[in-house]
Amino acid sequence: MDLEKFLELMSEGGFFYPSFEIYRGKAEVGGFYDYGPLGVELKRNIIEKWRRVFIYPYQDFIVEIETPIIMPKIVFEASGHLEHFTDAIVECTKCGRKYRADHLIEEELSKKNISIKTEGLSLEELDQLIRRYGIRCPACGGELGSVKPFNLLFQTTIGPYSENTGYLRPETAQGMFVSFPKIFNLMGRRLPLGIAQIGKVGRNEISPRQGLIRLREFSQMEIEFFFDPENAKCPYLDELDIKLRIIPEKDVAAGIKEPKEFRPREAVEGGIVPNEWMAFFMGLATIYMNELGIPLDHQYFLAKLPQERAHYSSASFDQMVYSERFGWIEVSGHAYRTDYDLSRHMKFSGYDLTVERRLATPKEVTEVRVYPNPQRIKEVFGNEMPKVMQAISRVDPKWLVNELNDKGKATINDYSITKDMVFIKEERRKIYVERFIPHDVEPSFGIDRIIYVTLEHAYTEVNGKPLLKLPPDIAPIKVAILPIIRREDYVRIGKLIFREVSRAGLRAVYDDDGTIGSRYAKYDSLGVPFAITIDDKTPIDNTVTIRDRDTKAQIRISIDRITQVITEVISKRSTINEIAKSMGLQLIIRE
Ligand code: ATP
Ligand code: GLY
Repeated sequence: MDLEKFLELMSEGGFFYPSFEIYRGKAEVGGFYDYGPLGVELKRNIIEKWRRVFIYPYQDFIVEIETPIIMPKIVFEASGHLEHFTDAIVECTKCGRKYRADHLIEEELSKKNISIKTEGLSLEELDQLIRRYGIRCPACGGELGSVKPFNLLFQTTIGPYSENTGYLRPETAQGMFVSFPKIFNLMGRRLPLGIAQIGKVGRNEISPRQGLIRLREFSQMEIEFFFDPENAKCPYLDELDIKLRIIPEKDVAAGIKEPKEFRPREAVEGGIVPNEWMAFFMGLATIYMNELGIPLDHQYFLAKLPQERAHYSSASFDQMVYSERFGWIEVSGHAYRTDYDLSRHMKFSGYDLTVERRLATPKEVTEVRVYPNPQRIKEVFGNEMPKVMQAISRVDPKWLVNELNDKGKATINDYSITKDMVFIKEERRKIYVERFIPHDVEPSFGIDRIIYVTLEHAYTEVNGKPLLKLPPDIAPIKVAILPIIRREDYVRIGKLIFREVSRAGLRAVYDDDGTIGSRYAKYDSLGVPFAITIDDKTPIDNTVTIRDRDTKAQIRISIDRITQVITEVISKRSTINEIAKSMGLQLIIRE
């Protein structure tokens, strides 16, 4: 691939390009990218396709919501991001430049042909590597200071008071955890329940230099999927006609770099993936990327070792996709977040986030009960006896017993309660329901990385001319309307067709400027899958040709069938050749 030509097309064609162009050199602009008109349309289609794969077929138990991108501090205290969401930073003692320590070490050592994996290393271990290999500032050669943590959350204040700290969310996920009780109620208090969200997030990346791959503001598509860990069956698992390519955790630990293939169920039964729902979403992720044009051998799942996993995860897989420019990159992360997030939010908010499980057979349980001793309470508290009795009856008996056992007394509403004021009894009881905190698996997709790998995979050159073979259903513009030459009657018909297909909801472009060959080449390079040509036959018999971007084959059809044929080709993912065959039409090759 001619990388320069590709990037030029992306920018000049209006797909994506660096933001704040006019302030380059006057402000910190790294890690921000704009999408132009075609980029916005492509992004919309990629998102809509994600909904079609992950949400719509399961809309009875997966729903999409939208929550704020700025959140109060307590949310990130609870989620653990204030404490754990850090990268290692190192500063040059001479010129003051700052680097992400792990990336700097890998880059500097690769120049010496030393390959080292730094993911999951502690600050001390990174520091030791810098000293051991004598790594210095690549810009000025100065000595590097000690490696420190750098929190990636963007901070702001909410309203005019500086103590009301807020943060830009680094993942959409927290919005789903925080609103879990609301959506759980709305959806009929049933599990499993998937809550999806698509939206912007911010991470104050230390030194982003990889275009759309590492941005400071980017978009995610995530599902928090809540289920009962004692009933984690996924009824759709065997419907997936796909094999998962995985490098399992033990292979990663052994340094094996080749993925192995597993049917989703095999991966669960073999202990490679911890539960059926996680395997299911990994299967859908494989299908989704494949439908975007990523061949199966250009994707696999990489298991993360315990020290490489995010603080909330008990098992993680990164979906890796091959990029000619960047090598293997993570496009989605699949984490088993267990009950970590809901437990933490329950603790920090005081809100009960447990749900009820009906037991198939009732359970016998032993429960600790605490009854007040009225006589003794009266002796100590006199007329306040009723209030003390009420206070005792309202506390959690387990907590009270623990306090009495550990400290010999418990303070309730300023009353000091001692063991002689209560009777502690263990009672056997049959229960028909029990409460638990749901578990969560999370497929998390970074849209910008997906856009990049999709475009890179679609890009090819034929006789030195760029061709963007985007799947028709995600192509930003579906059809170009091109009079073969700029003649008055052709132009009039062309503009009528343009208006017609536009009204029917197809994204289209009209163009009568230049030779027909140069226009075909232009729209091929922008990924437009179909071109309608108005020629000498059109004014006579009301027919036009439809040209297929990839095969260059054309068929002739009447004007009033244009929308129907194009919509059919897009929705059935068939080619013009197949349509010609099914309609008994002859293919024309004009170039
Ligand atoms: P990396 O290891 O590359 O920094 P990550 O492990 O931090 O990525 P996650 O936290 O799992 O990424 O985020 C979920 C998804 O969001 C990723 O799979 C990726 O597609 C996307 N993503 C993460 N960070 C960025 C970024 N800085 N720019 C663009 N997309 C990103
Ligand atoms: N929600 C997972 C992540 O953004 O890392």
